[in-house]
Amino acid sequence: MASTEDKPANKENTSSWKDSIYNPRTGEVLGRTASSWALILLFYLVFYCFLAGMFALTMWVMLLTLDDNVPRYRDRVPSPGLVIRPHSLDIAFNKSKPLEYAQYVQHLESFLQSYNDTEQEKNLDCTRGDYFNQEDTEEMIKKACRFKRSSLSLCSGLSDTNFGYSEGRPCILLKMNRIIGLRPRGDPYINCTVKRENPIQMQYFPSEGSIDKMYFPYYGKRIHENYVQPLVAVKLLLTKEDYNKELAVECRVEGSDLRNNDERDKFLGRITFRIKVVE
Ligand SMILES: *[C@@H]1O[C@H](CO)[C@@H](O)[C@H](O)[C@H]1NC(C)=O
Ligand SMILES: *[C@@H]1O[C@H](CO)[C@@H](O)[C@H](O)[C@H]1NC(C)=O
Ligand SMILES: *[C@@H]1O[C@H](CO)[C@@H](O)[C@H](O)[C@H]1NC(C)=O
Repeated sequence: MASTEDKPANKENTSSWKDSIYNPRTGEVLGRTASSWALILLFYLVFYCFLAGMFALTMWVMLLTLDDNVPRYRDRVPSPGLVIRPHSLDIAFNKSKPLEYAQYVQHLESFLQSYNDTEQEKNLDCTRGDYFNQEDTEEMIKKACRFKRSSLSLCSGLSDTNFGYSEGRPCILLKMNRIIGLRPRGDPYINCTVKRENPIQMQYFPSEGSIDKMYFPYYGKRIHENYVQPLVAVKLLLTKEDYNKELAVECRVEGSDLRNNDERDKFLGRITFRIKVVE
């Protein structure tokens, strides 16, 4: 008796397990009817569309408030880093072997292409000694001040196409990184020193290694297209005693409020490079 009652109960159990996936009697799939599933899918579809819409909307509003040219969040204008050309912190060559310094000379030559005198004729001959502020008119391209490579004189690569490398008195070019809106106070100039007892004679171009204020402020890549950074060239007047030795040269931006002694950033307003000229 008991066994006959057990059988149908068992059958019920197995069928209910199968029913939980698909129940042919009620048409339920995983315990829900088709219309119930459709409602759930519809709910999630609407929900996610709403989320995506919210995201797109906030993004759009954010972008509307951004200015294309000026980074929005800056507590103050940062100080620029100092870089040299040729782009190497370890310059070494035999002055009698043109192949060894050819890379440096080529690098300087190609770097100075944008400072071509004919190219720079298109830029303005600005008033020296003061910032070149320009009105903030929408969609107006800013003008740039002229910097001719010929003003680098012996280091221009014009009179001496080897930039002094063949005579063992090499030229190094220095420039500050571009920073939008930077207006250095004071009269910035570059001062290079060699870390050792007896100093090395150096020649600066433009004279005194000065960086004219008329090249500031910079307005940004898109609206200040023709802008060129002011350069300072330093010619190391090495003598026989300086050859075959590695010299550590440190250059700093001085005479202004630009930072040049940050303990954490060795390139902020200064740079140290090594140079070794072999005879
Ligand atoms: C530099 O080059 C010259 C000419 O090739 C050579 O006589 C001289 O030994 C070289 N100097 C060194 C230190 O290799
Ligand atoms: C720059 O000037 C040099 C020498 O005058 C010339 O060879 C070169 O083609 C010029 N480059 C440009 C981009 O005008
Ligand atoms: C350049 O720096 C050296 C070392 O700091 C200093 O003795 C010298 O007076 C500086 N020269 C100029 C022109 O500021």
